[in-house]
Amino acid sequence: MIRPIYTYGEPILEKEAEDIDLDDQSLDVIIKDMFETMYNAEGLGLAAPQIGISKKIIVIDEKDILKGVFINARILRYLGPLSKMEEGCLSFPSLETNIIRPIASEIEWYDENKNYHKEIIVGIKSRILQHEIDHINGLLITDRMDEQEKNEKLGQLKDIKNKKFQIKKRYDTNF
Ligand code: CO
Repeated sequence: MIRPIYTYGEPILEKEAEDIDLDDQSLDVIIKDMFETMYNAEGLGLAAPQIGISKKIIVIDEKDILKGVFINARILRYLGPLSKMEEGCLSFPSLETNIIRPIASEIEWYDENKNYHKEIIVGIKSRILQHEIDHINGLLITDRMDEQEKNEKLGQLKDIKNKKFQIKKRYDTNF
């Protein structure tokens, strides 16, 4: 089922989500709905709080780069130099903004088959995961924008908060 996507200004997006019990009976349905909602919105990644569920579940499908389900994901450490790249977010319709993030990170998570993973992830994969893990920790791109970027996008951010937006253009950076 395609669910509505919560946008900037909704309190659930700025609240830390809870760990989900791997035996939770609703997990399969939530994951299925998250993929459907993400594909429908032409996004590459989606975190459960973005559909109003305050649980630590992430789905990602970035073509050949990274596809999967990340449950109770955690960043253990950030690694490497910083890099700047444009990011979009399904909770910020029509906004693209430069975000500085460390190039790599060590991440742990469970997949949909309850298998535990711990890996050092580098580059675009790490960027997407850092963005999605921010979501489950209640952090948004507005928490990562520098002052200059924030000032430039102030009007657009205000409009999104006031629900004055139209989804005119899809970006291939919508995490
Ligand atoms: Co996002």
